[in-house]
Amino acid sequence: MTSVLIDNVAELTTNDPSIGDGSRLGLVERAALVLEQGRVAWVGRAAEAPAADEAFDAQGCAVIPGFVDSHAHLVFAGDRSAEFAARMQGTPYSAGGIRSTVTATRAAPDDVLAANTARLVAEMQRQGTTTMEIKSGYGLTAKDEARALAIASGFTPETTYLGAHVVAPEFEADPDAYVDLVTGPMLEAARTHAKWIDVFCERGAFDADQARSILRAGMAVGLAPRIHANQLGPGPGVLVACEVGAASADHCTHLSRSDVSDLRAAGVVATLLPGVEFSTRSPYPDARALLDAGVTVALASDCNPGSCYSSSIPLCIALAVREMRMSPAEALWSATAGGAAALRRADVGRLRAGSRADLCVLAAPSYVHLAYRPGVPLVSAVFAAGRRIV
Ligand code: NIG
Ligand code: FE
Repeated sequence: MTSVLIDNVAELTTNDPSIGDGSRLGLVERAALVLEQGRVAWVGRAAEAPAADEAFDAQGCAVIPGFVDSHAHLVFAGDRSAEFAARMQGTPYSAGGIRSTVTATRAAPDDVLAANTARLVAEMQRQGTTTMEIKSGYGLTAKDEARALAIASGFTPETTYLGAHVVAPEFEADPDAYVDLVTGPMLEAARTHAKWIDVFCERGAFDADQARSILRAGMAVGLAPRIHANQLGPGPGVLVACEVGAASADHCTHLSRSDVSDLRAAGVVATLLPGVEFSTRSPYPDARALLDAGVTVALASDCNPGSCYSSSIPLCIALAVREMRMSPAEALWSATAGGAAALRRADVGRLRAGSRADLCVLAAPSYVHLAYRPGVPLVSAVFAAGRRIV
């Protein structure tokens, strides 16, 4: 297989503090890197670069690790633009909107669902995302959840069973029977296509006891837990995440002080999804409290048809910096290495020898431009596993 030298890089972010300037981003100026067999074979100063079979001239631009988007709901059909428009006129967001997507998703043929997922995956890749998690959660029957996960697994190994998104409409009068389905036959149908199990722990969705038993049922058959926690109000989601040892608690919009210290003590990643607060016009999570307490913070898109129909990690970075007072360096780390931590992946989110060769070339001299130039499509080339995909 041919090796590729990415040359003439003004600023390389490695996310390895033992490389370059010693910061958490491990920045190397006037850098180069060699990709071979889908991995990074070498990184360092351009002047010291070894020979390779092919060269790609980065033309004095910045190179960063490909974004790791650890939270997305891409397998769905239908459109909720009217709900968005109403929300912008004052109708508050609620978990109930999920049901309209469930109706449309159940009615869609497999090829339509797969094509919509492929369209969104391609949209993510064009914006620099090279690893994405994809959840089910708009089927809510054993057959439809398994179908969503089978489609998702065609695009990523990071598939998440979210049968516990909301109680399916048929079970409205008997939510406990729905939990039995989610932890029984639906889990059985879904598990072969899933790596993770997730639950929406929120008023209007599932309470702490239900969330705990759903996550534990998934763990008993080998799925690893993650959770939607503390999105719409304070609640027990973070506590459940810490109790079961979830990889990540996602949203974390309404946290108490003890939630923050529990996340830190349990080593659970806090995944912040600022596109949701932007698209639902809600207060942003307190990223500073988390970072200052030493919690590992990830940034992800939560791309979904309801609370945030944006697949853009550059938008999340700009919001994290502008609205949540993260530094540009913190935001970039959280959208790359932080996402990798949320997915317990050591091979992505960094650019050092041995990492997967997933990277973005920016049409800018520094990663800071991701926040400095909001809304501007700065991702000019993307490599995934050493192959140029954009
Ligand atoms: O992460 N919180 C639950 N699920 C999604 C929203 C899904 C929807 O509204 O369709 C979220 O925000
Ligand atoms: Fe979500």
